Amino acid sequence: MENTQKRVTFGGKISAVLVAAGSAVGLGNIWRFPYVAGENGGGAFLIIYILCILIMGLPLMIAEFSIGSASRHNAVGAFRTLGHRRWGGIGYIGILASVLILGFYLVVAGWTAEYTIHSLTDDLVRQSDPTFHQRSFEAFIAHPWKPIFYSTLFAVATHIIIVLGVKQGIERASKVMMPLLFIFLIILAIHSMLMPGGMEGIRFFLTPDFSKVTPSSVLVALGQAFFSLSIGLGTMITYGSYFKPKTRVQDTAIEVSAIDTMVAMLAGLMVFPAVFSAGIEPGAGPSLVFITLPSIFSSMPLSQLWSSLFFLLLVIAALTSTISLHEAITAYMHEEWKLTRRSAACITTVLTALLGALASLSLGILDHWRIAGLNIFDALDYVTANILLPIGAMLTCLFAGWCFDKQTFASQLYPSCQPKPFFGLIRFMLRFCCPIIILLIFLHNLGLL
Ligand code: PFF
Repeated sequence: MENTQKRVTFGGKISAVLVAAGSAVGLGNIWRFPYVAGENGGGAFLIIYILCILIMGLPLMIAEFSIGSASRHNAVGAFRTLGHRRWGGIGYIGILASVLILGFYLVVAGWTAEYTIHSLTDDLVRQSDPTFHQRSFEAFIAHPWKPIFYSTLFAVATHIIIVLGVKQGIERASKVMMPLLFIFLIILAIHSMLMPGGMEGIRFFLTPDFSKVTPSSVLVALGQAFFSLSIGLGTMITYGSYFKPKTRVQDTAIEVSAIDTMVAMLAGLMVFPAVFSAGIEPGAGPSLVFITLPSIFSSMPLSQLWSSLFFLLLVIAALTSTISLHEAITAYMHEEWKLTRRSAACITTVLTALLGALASLSLGILDHWRIAGLNIFDALDYVTANILLPIGAMLTCLFAGWCFDKQTFASQLYPSCQPKPFFGLIRFMLRFCCPIIILLIFLHNLGLL
């Protein structure tokens, strides 16, 4: 109880939604979603993705917010406070996953910063030849220090916001950056849809073609949904612990998931019309954003403006997400190791920036350092997406469904005594459906099924 009174909280409902949406909306929506959808049949993938969000993502996000808001603790402390000491282990998996994700996320975030600067200085859009953009992207990511410089810059920017605090740093930054992100995204999507031939791209994105859907598309959709909603690793538990006690967790989770899905859809509506208008293959892999789009921008009127807006959008989306990953780790060290917030933030920044540097070098001079055949960058992605995230998500479901006191859980969804129409359904999903589905996917990903 004492902890409830002392803990900092976000200003109110809108702040809670904006901050959590800031974590959810990130490179996963704008960089990863369009190319994953492109590779897995466009509109059909979109339907599966939305089902994954509704059936699996939403109950888990509600559970994470509730665990945070009921315990008022960081990811490790939350499970310990509400359950038995041993449950703290779930939190440790989450903190480890956050460190590893931040390691490679900072690298890609750094690329977006570099591309923004090149767009603003007009360097990027002088050439429209895609092979030129491909060569310069490959040379850039393999460069021994340039990408490290930009990822470190990103780590420092994140650090400054974290050190400013939950209210003055995280909440204020999200309140400025999220509206900006929406404005940029809408302008870019409208511009892209109005391009000649753009309708073809919209049709590709929105028309379901189930012949292209394979069992692995379903797995990809679920992995994408978890990553995109930032669930399974304690970030949303940490943010939930800063909600005002009266915040209706269920509504917040629905709003955050809706915003996240809307941004992914808008990103598709921004990318596919441009790609089709330029007559390029839609499933062009991760390079879609860093190679294909710059060459498309180059051939447009006002190329510098569109390219700068686009990469600035990516920078904003990435920054609100790196903040949330950093905060989950910092809050853990601050509360469990009893460090000052500033020292906890410093350790987190140095640790993740070093990991980022290693991940970046592994795309160039350290390419021969391999873990089970993967370079460090890919290994970080693989271990978090295929192992730590599913395990964390499954244990969180089991905890929320079987161990979390029913009354306490229900009171987070509906703080005042109101009818609880969906609570039974959500709890049922968390007890049975979600853990079983996640287990099947986990085994399949490891090639055991
Ligand atoms: N949801 C973010 C994105 O879509 O880019 C990535 C992310 C942020 C994952 C925070 C996990 C997390 F805890």
